[in-house]
Amino acid sequence: MTALPPEKSALPTAFAGEIVRWQQTHGRSNLPWQNTRDPYRVWLSEIMLQQTQVTTVLDYYARFLQRFPTVAELAAASQDEVLGLWSGLGYYSRARNLHRCAQDVVALHGGQFPRSALQLQTLPGIGRSTAAAVASFCFGERVAILDGNVKRVLTRVLGFAGDLSESANEKALWNLATDLLPTQDVPAAMPRYTQGLMDLGATVCASRQPQCLLCPVQTLCAGRASGEPEKYPVKTKKLKRSAQALSLLWAQRPDGSVWLEKRPSAGIWGALYCLPVFDSDAALHAALPENLDGRLQALPHFVHVLTHKDLHLAPWIAGFGNDQALPEAMAPDARPGAWFSPADWPGLGLPAPIRKLLLREPA
Ligand code: ADE
Repeated sequence: MTALPPEKSALPTAFAGEIVRWQQTHGRSNLPWQNTRDPYRVWLSEIMLQQTQVTTVLDYYARFLQRFPTVAELAAASQDEVLGLWSGLGYYSRARNLHRCAQDVVALHGGQFPRSALQLQTLPGIGRSTAAAVASFCFGERVAILDGNVKRVLTRVLGFAGDLSESANEKALWNLATDLLPTQDVPAAMPRYTQGLMDLGATVCASRQPQCLLCPVQTLCAGRASGEPEKYPVKTKKLKRSAQALSLLWAQRPDGSVWLEKRPSAGIWGALYCLPVFDSDAALHAALPENLDGRLQALPHFVHVLTHKDLHLAPWIAGFGNDQALPEAMAPDARPGAWFSPADWPGLGLPAPIRKLLLREPA
């Protein structure tokens, strides 16, 4: 077997130490989910921080903890209340899984989060990286995280050019991430190391124009040595995107209340409250009562971008009478729903484009 070049074999020992030291002096230390080893608090923050910026999460995190100080209180809440408190954070499968996870912790684990990454991963919504974050922060377990930011840091440091669209390469990177973990003073080092990698990925090791001169591992970094750190990570397969046109019925009564139906739990906007959705304007018109009390008016079309799909939305506002019956297609036995007054809207779990429309918020 050929020996690794010296800079590569030196990497594992030097790397973790530099990350831990840098975290202590330059990393973030005052976020509300830091300085605690309570797995409930750490888990809640990690779920919220998936795909969402720290600044957005801060308010939601405080409100959730105020309403649900313990996992048992979260488990006992209704799904509607959880989705309502989540409203505006997006990616609602996170909220549905959060609630199910809390219920499983209570029902299957006596109200205590399991203390190992392997066991944490058996819970709804907790993937390998989130399980590792919770286990390393709370229990000092020696396990690797590998979210999007950390993939960028590690592929650059290692000069890892494998295409991460291939699962074999992703697996190889997980193994390398494990090789790089601290080996000394593990229980104390792990929380700092995990946070340090996150902090480095979120600040210095940016996707574009990384600040290599500020980086604690600049001398160890193969990406920097190559002169083109931005070429890492390599990911060739782009998401296949599609487009879909939907018509939305804003049925409004004279008192300003609007009919919102609860979506089925599977599929788009699962379990959220939504304006009735139709495949076309024609289908929407066909569902309206013939003797609509008020006007029917098209509102401006808008596009809402989802991860896999662009939604082209065509809203229609229709004036219903105070006692006017709902059309067949929207009747309560077809889909559960109700008339909600504007004061209720902010507290409901609404899809982002519906929030944007009703509350005139940026989606
Ligand atoms: N993103 C994911 N986890 C995080 C954490 N613990 N601190 C800051 N940003 C994060």
